[in-house]
Amino acid sequence: MSDVSDTRREASRNDLVTVITGAGNGIGRALALAMSRRGALVLATDLDADAAVRTRDLITQSGGTARAMPLDVTRTENYETVRDFCLDTWGRVDRVVNNAGIVALGLPEHLPLSAWLRTVDVNLLGIARSNEVFLPTLLAQGHGHVVNIASTSGLFPYSFDRLAYVATKAAVVAMSESLALYLRPQGIDVSCVCPAGVRTTMIERMSRHGPQQPMGTPALPVVMPEDFAEHVVDRLAAGDFLICSVPEAFEAVARRGADLDANLAAAIAQHGFRPPAQSHPE
Ligand SMILES: NC(=O)c1ccc[n+]([C@@H]2O[C@H](COP(=O)([O-])OP(=O)(O)OC[C@H]3O[C@@H](n4cnc5c(N)ncnc54)[C@H](O)[C@@H]3O)[C@@H](O)[C@H]2O)c1
Repeated sequence: MSDVSDTRREASRNDLVTVITGAGNGIGRALALAMSRRGALVLATDLDADAAVRTRDLITQSGGTARAMPLDVTRTENYETVRDFCLDTWGRVDRVVNNAGIVALGLPEHLPLSAWLRTVDVNLLGIARSNEVFLPTLLAQGHGHVVNIASTSGLFPYSFDRLAYVATKAAVVAMSESLALYLRPQGIDVSCVCPAGVRTTMIERMSRHGPQQPMGTPALPVVMPEDFAEHVVDRLAAGDFLICSVPEAFEAVARRGADLDANLAAAIAQHGFRPPAQSHPE
Protein backbone atom coordinates (compact mmCIF):
# COMPACT_ATOMS: atom_id res chain seq x y z
CA MET A 1 0.00 0.00 0.00
CA SER A 2 1.32 3.43 -0.90
CA ASP A 3 0.74 6.45 1.34
CA VAL A 4 2.15 9.94 1.87
CA SER A 5 5.10 8.70 3.97
CA ASP A 6 6.05 6.29 1.16
CA THR A 7 6.06 9.20 -1.26
CA ARG A 8 8.28 11.29 1.04
CA ARG A 9 10.66 8.37 1.50
CA GLU A 10 10.89 7.98 -2.28
CA ALA A 11 11.52 11.69 -2.80
CA SER A 12 14.27 11.90 -0.16
CA ARG A 13 16.24 8.86 -1.28
CA ASN A 14 19.81 9.26 -2.56
CA ASP A 15 19.74 6.53 -5.20
CA LEU A 16 17.75 8.71 -7.57
CA VAL A 17 17.16 7.09 -10.94
CA THR A 18 18.43 9.88 -13.17
CA VAL A 19 18.12 10.18 -16.94
CA ILE A 20 20.44 12.75 -18.53
CA THR A 21 20.35 13.80 -22.17
CA GLY A 22 23.55 14.96 -23.87
CA ALA A 23 25.48 13.19 -21.10
CA GLY A 24 28.38 12.22 -23.35
CA ASN A 25 30.27 15.52 -23.01
CA GLY A 26 30.58 18.77 -21.14
CA ILE A 27 27.98 19.76 -18.59
CA GLY A 28 25.91 16.60 -19.10
CA ARG A 29 28.87 14.34 -18.37
CA ALA A 30 29.94 16.43 -15.37
CA LEU A 31 26.38 16.34 -13.98
CA ALA A 32 26.23 12.57 -14.50
CA LEU A 33 29.44 12.12 -12.51
CA ALA A 34 28.48 14.58 -9.75
CA MET A 35 25.02 13.02 -9.35
CA SER A 36 26.56 9.56 -9.26
CA ARG A 37 28.93 10.67 -6.46
CA ARG A 38 25.76 11.57 -4.46
CA GLY A 39 24.39 8.06 -5.02
CA ALA A 40 22.29 8.47 -8.16
CA LEU A 41 21.68 5.56 -10.53
CA VAL A 42 22.52 7.26 -13.80
CA LEU A 43 21.25 6.54 -17.28
CA ALA A 44 23.65 8.48 -19.50
CA THR A 45 22.14 9.15 -22.92
CA ASP A 46 23.49 10.99 -25.93
CA LEU A 47 23.10 11.31 -29.69
CA ASP A 48 26.71 10.12 -29.72
CA ALA A 49 26.26 6.61 -28.32
CA ASP A 50 30.03 6.09 -27.81
CA ALA A 51 30.28 9.28 -25.76
CA ALA A 52 27.42 8.09 -23.54
CA VAL A 53 29.25 4.80 -23.01
CA ARG A 54 32.42 6.69 -21.99
CA THR A 55 30.41 8.56 -19.35
CA ARG A 56 28.94 5.28 -18.11
CA ASP A 57 32.45 3.79 -17.89
CA LEU A 58 33.77 6.78 -15.95
CA ILE A 59 30.98 6.31 -13.42
CA THR A 60 31.32 2.56 -13.07
CA GLN A 61 35.15 2.83 -12.79
CA SER A 62 34.64 5.16 -9.83
CA GLY A 63 32.27 2.71 -8.14
CA GLY A 64 28.93 4.18 -9.22
CA THR A 65 26.00 2.58 -10.99
CA ALA A 66 25.30 3.68 -14.54
CA ARG A 67 23.93 2.55 -17.86
CA ALA A 68 24.31 4.15 -21.29
CA MET A 69 21.81 4.37 -24.12
CA PRO A 70 21.68 6.29 -27.39
CA LEU A 71 19.04 9.01 -27.33
CA ASP A 72 18.43 11.66 -29.97
CA VAL A 73 16.21 14.31 -28.37
CA THR A 74 14.49 14.85 -31.74
CA ARG A 75 13.05 11.31 -31.58
CA THR A 76 10.18 10.56 -29.24
CA GLU A 77 10.64 6.83 -29.66
CA ASN A 78 14.17 7.10 -28.21
CA TYR A 79 12.71 8.68 -25.06
CA GLU A 80 10.12 5.91 -24.85
CA THR A 81 12.84 3.24 -25.04
CA VAL A 82 14.82 4.97 -22.29
CA ARG A 83 11.77 5.38 -20.04
CA ASP A 84 10.83 1.72 -20.49
CA PHE A 85 14.40 0.66 -19.73
CA CYS A 86 14.35 2.65 -16.46
CA LEU A 87 11.02 1.20 -15.40
CA ASP A 88 12.08 -2.36 -16.29
CA THR A 89 15.49 -2.01 -14.59
CA TRP A 90 14.84 0.18 -11.57
CA GLY A 91 11.06 0.41 -11.39
CA ARG A 92 10.94 4.20 -11.44
CA VAL A 93 12.31 7.46 -12.88
CA ASP A 94 13.20 10.00 -10.20
CA ARG A 95 14.97 12.74 -12.13
CA VAL A 96 15.05 13.82 -15.77
CA VAL A 97 17.84 16.19 -16.76
CA ASN A 98 17.10 17.80 -20.13
CA ASN A 99 20.60 18.95 -21.00
CA ALA A 100 21.27 18.35 -24.72
CA GLY A 101 21.64 21.60 -26.63
CA ILE A 102 23.18 23.02 -29.80
CA VAL A 103 24.25 26.45 -31.04
CA ALA A 104 24.07 27.90 -34.56
CA LEU A 105 26.17 31.03 -35.01
CA GLY A 106 25.54 33.71 -37.60
CA LEU A 107 24.38 37.29 -38.02
CA PRO A 108 20.57 37.52 -37.89
CA GLU A 109 20.15 37.96 -41.67
CA HIS A 110 22.53 35.04 -42.33
CA LEU A 111 21.03 32.49 -39.96
CA PRO A 112 19.12 30.18 -42.31
CA LEU A 113 15.70 28.81 -41.48
CA SER A 114 17.22 25.32 -41.47
CA ALA A 115 19.43 26.37 -38.53
CA TRP A 116 16.40 27.81 -36.73
CA LEU A 117 14.41 24.62 -37.27
CA ARG A 118 17.23 22.39 -36.04
CA THR A 119 17.89 24.55 -32.96
CA VAL A 120 14.22 24.66 -32.01
CA ASP A 121 13.90 20.92 -32.63
CA VAL A 122 16.80 20.06 -30.30
CA ASN A 123 16.78 22.78 -27.62
CA LEU A 124 13.05 23.33 -27.18
CA LEU A 125 11.05 20.51 -28.74
CA GLY A 126 13.56 18.02 -27.28
CA ILE A 127 12.22 19.01 -23.86
CA ALA A 128 8.62 18.96 -25.12
CA ARG A 129 9.19 15.33 -26.17
CA SER A 130 10.77 14.55 -22.81
CA ASN A 131 7.72 16.03 -21.06
CA GLU A 132 5.36 14.02 -23.21
CA VAL A 133 7.12 10.76 -22.40
CA PHE A 134 8.24 11.22 -18.77
CA LEU A 135 5.57 13.40 -17.14
CA PRO A 136 2.88 10.68 -17.09
CA THR A 137 5.35 8.42 -15.26
CA LEU A 138 6.38 11.13 -12.77
CA LEU A 139 2.74 12.09 -12.17
CA ALA A 140 1.73 8.46 -11.60
CA GLN A 141 4.60 8.09 -9.12
CA GLY A 142 3.69 11.37 -7.37
CA HIS A 143 7.33 12.36 -7.13
CA GLY A 144 10.23 13.31 -9.38
CA HIS A 145 12.38 16.20 -10.51
CA VAL A 146 12.58 17.79 -13.96
CA VAL A 147 15.84 19.71 -14.49
CA ASN A 148 16.01 21.82 -17.63
CA ILE A 149 19.33 23.24 -18.79
CA ALA A 150 18.70 26.68 -20.32
CA SER A 151 21.29 29.48 -20.46
CA THR A 152 21.91 33.00 -19.17
CA SER A 153 21.37 33.99 -22.82
CA GLY A 154 17.71 33.21 -22.16
CA LEU A 155 17.67 35.54 -19.13
CA PHE A 156 19.30 38.74 -20.43
CA PRO A 157 20.79 39.96 -23.75
CA TYR A 158 24.49 39.78 -24.59
CA SER A 159 24.72 38.25 -28.05
CA PHE A 160 23.19 38.92 -31.45
CA ASP A 161 25.07 36.11 -33.19
CA ARG A 162 22.80 33.17 -32.18
CA LEU A 163 19.19 34.34 -32.30
CA ALA A 164 17.72 30.85 -32.55
CA TYR A 165 19.73 29.72 -29.54
CA VAL A 166 18.73 32.65 -27.30
CA ALA A 167 15.10 32.33 -28.39
CA THR A 168 14.99 28.65 -27.46
CA LYS A 169 16.77 29.23 -24.14
CA ALA A 170 14.36 32.05 -23.18
CA ALA A 171 11.54 29.68 -24.10
CA VAL A 172 13.04 26.95 -21.89
CA VAL A 173 13.15 29.40 -18.93
CA ALA A 174 9.50 30.41 -19.46
CA MET A 175 8.39 26.84 -20.07
CA SER A 176 10.14 25.64 -16.92
CA GLU A 177 8.50 28.34 -14.77
CA SER A 178 5.06 27.47 -16.12
CA LEU A 179 5.76 23.76 -15.68
CA ALA A 180 6.59 24.43 -12.02
CA LEU A 181 3.12 25.97 -11.58
CA TYR A 182 1.66 22.65 -12.64
CA LEU A 183 4.08 20.09 -11.22
CA ARG A 184 5.21 21.47 -7.85
CA PRO A 185 1.70 21.33 -6.35
CA GLN A 186 1.68 17.65 -7.42
CA GLY A 187 4.93 16.81 -5.60
CA ILE A 188 7.20 17.00 -8.65
CA ASP A 189 10.03 19.48 -8.54
CA VAL A 190 11.18 21.61 -11.48
CA SER A 191 14.50 23.44 -11.76
CA CYS A 192 15.97 25.58 -14.50
CA VAL A 193 19.75 25.74 -14.80
CA CYS A 194 21.28 28.75 -16.54
CA PRO A 195 25.01 28.45 -17.17
CA ALA A 196 26.86 31.60 -18.26
CA GLY A 197 30.21 30.31 -19.45
CA VAL A 198 31.25 26.74 -18.76
CA ARG A 199 34.43 25.46 -20.40
CA THR A 200 33.15 22.55 -22.51
CA THR A 201 33.62 21.27 -26.03
CA MET A 202 30.39 22.95 -27.14
CA ILE A 203 32.30 25.45 -29.27
CA GLU A 204 33.55 22.56 -31.47
CA ARG A 205 29.98 21.49 -32.17
CA MET A 206 28.63 24.93 -33.15
CA SER A 207 27.43 25.36 -36.73
CA ARG A 208 28.52 28.58 -38.42
CA HIS A 209 26.55 30.49 -41.05
CA GLY A 210 27.65 33.49 -43.15
CA PRO A 211 30.32 36.02 -42.19
CA GLN A 212 31.50 35.46 -38.63
CA GLN A 213 31.86 37.98 -35.80
CA PRO A 214 33.84 37.61 -32.60
CA MET A 215 31.53 35.45 -30.46
CA GLY A 216 29.24 37.28 -28.01
CA THR A 217 29.93 36.43 -24.38
CA PRO A 218 28.10 37.44 -21.20
CA ALA A 219 31.24 39.05 -19.65
CA LEU A 220 30.85 36.85 -16.58
CA PRO A 221 33.41 34.48 -15.03
CA VAL A 222 33.86 31.18 -16.88
CA VAL A 223 33.73 28.06 -14.71
CA MET A 224 34.85 24.46 -15.16
CA PRO A 225 32.14 21.83 -15.78
CA GLU A 226 33.13 19.76 -12.72
CA ASP A 227 32.83 22.76 -10.36
CA PHE A 228 29.60 23.84 -11.98
CA ALA A 229 28.11 20.36 -11.70
CA GLU A 230 28.90 20.18 -7.96
CA HIS A 231 27.23 23.58 -7.51
CA VAL A 232 24.16 22.46 -9.46
CA VAL A 233 23.78 19.28 -7.43
CA ASP A 234 24.02 21.29 -4.19
CA ARG A 235 21.39 23.77 -5.36
CA LEU A 236 19.08 21.02 -6.62
CA ALA A 237 19.28 19.40 -3.19
CA ALA A 238 18.43 22.78 -1.63
CA GLY A 239 15.29 22.96 -3.79
CA ASP A 240 16.23 25.96 -5.96
CA PHE A 241 14.32 26.67 -9.13
CA LEU A 242 16.79 28.99 -10.88
CA ILE A 243 20.40 27.86 -10.73
CA CYS A 244 23.08 30.03 -12.35
CA SER A 245 26.79 29.32 -12.72
CA VAL A 246 27.87 32.58 -11.06
CA PRO A 247 26.12 34.98 -8.63
CA GLU A 248 26.63 37.92 -11.02
CA ALA A 249 24.00 36.36 -13.29
CA PHE A 250 21.30 36.95 -10.64
CA GLU A 251 22.39 40.61 -10.44
CA ALA A 252 22.05 40.90 -14.23
CA VAL A 253 18.56 39.39 -14.05
CA ALA A 254 17.59 41.93 -11.36
CA ARG A 255 18.93 44.84 -13.45
CA ARG A 256 16.90 43.69 -16.45
CA GLY A 257 13.77 43.27 -14.32
CA ALA A 258 14.13 46.72 -12.75
CA ASP A 259 14.22 48.61 -16.07
CA LEU A 260 14.25 46.64 -19.30
CA ASP A 261 14.77 49.72 -21.50
CA ALA A 262 17.73 51.02 -19.49
CA ASN A 263 19.20 47.52 -19.36
CA LEU A 264 18.91 47.13 -23.13
CA ALA A 265 20.60 50.50 -23.71
CA ALA A 266 23.46 49.45 -21.43
CA ALA A 267 23.65 46.04 -23.16
CA ILE A 268 23.86 47.70 -26.58
CA ALA A 269 26.69 49.93 -25.32
CA GLN A 270 28.54 46.88 -23.99
CA HIS A 271 27.63 44.09 -26.41
CA GLY A 272 26.00 45.81 -29.42
CA PHE A 273 27.04 45.36 -33.05
CA ARG A 274 29.82 47.70 -34.13
CA PRO A 275 29.28 48.60 -37.79
CA PRO A 276 32.55 48.58 -39.74
CA ALA A 277 34.15 52.05 -39.87
CA GLN A 278 33.20 53.88 -43.10
CA SER A 279 36.15 54.26 -45.43
CA HIS A 280 36.37 57.82 -46.77
CA PRO A 281 38.16 58.29 -50.10
CA GLU A 282 41.01 60.80 -49.74
N1 LIG B 1 29.01 25.49 -22.07
C1 LIG B 1 28.42 26.65 -21.82
O1 LIG B 1 29.09 27.67 -21.60
C2 LIG B 1 26.92 26.73 -21.76
C3 LIG B 1 26.36 27.98 -21.47
C4 LIG B 1 24.98 28.08 -21.41
C5 LIG B 1 24.19 26.97 -21.62
N2 LIG B 1 24.76 25.77 -21.92
C6 LIG B 1 23.87 24.64 -22.16
O2 LIG B 1 24.31 23.50 -21.45
C7 LIG B 1 23.94 22.32 -22.18
C8 LIG B 1 25.16 21.44 -22.37
O3 LIG B 1 26.13 22.19 -23.06
P1 LIG B 1 27.67 21.76 -23.15
O4 LIG B 1 28.46 23.01 -23.09
O5 LIG B 1 27.93 20.66 -22.23
O6 LIG B 1 27.69 21.24 -24.67
P2 LIG B 1 28.55 20.07 -25.37
O7 LIG B 1 28.45 20.36 -26.83
O8 LIG B 1 29.90 19.96 -24.74
O9 LIG B 1 27.70 18.76 -25.04
C9 LIG B 1 26.41 18.62 -25.58
C10 LIG B 1 26.08 17.16 -25.74
O10 LIG B 1 24.77 17.10 -26.32
C11 LIG B 1 24.79 16.09 -27.32
N3 LIG B 1 23.74 16.34 -28.32
C12 LIG B 1 23.75 17.22 -29.34
N4 LIG B 1 22.64 17.09 -30.06
C13 LIG B 1 21.90 16.11 -29.48
C14 LIG B 1 20.66 15.49 -29.77
N5 LIG B 1 19.94 15.84 -30.84
N6 LIG B 1 20.22 14.51 -28.94
C15 LIG B 1 20.94 14.12 -27.87
N7 LIG B 1 22.15 14.63 -27.57
C16 LIG B 1 22.61 15.63 -28.37
C17 LIG B 1 26.19 16.14 -27.92
O11 LIG B 1 26.52 14.91 -28.57
C18 LIG B 1 27.03 16.41 -26.69
O12 LIG B 1 27.47 15.23 -26.08
C19 LIG B 1 23.33 22.81 -23.50
O13 LIG B 1 21.92 22.80 -23.41
C20 LIG B 1 23.84 24.22 -23.61
O14 LIG B 1 22.99 25.04 -24.38
C21 LIG B 1 26.11 25.63 -22.00
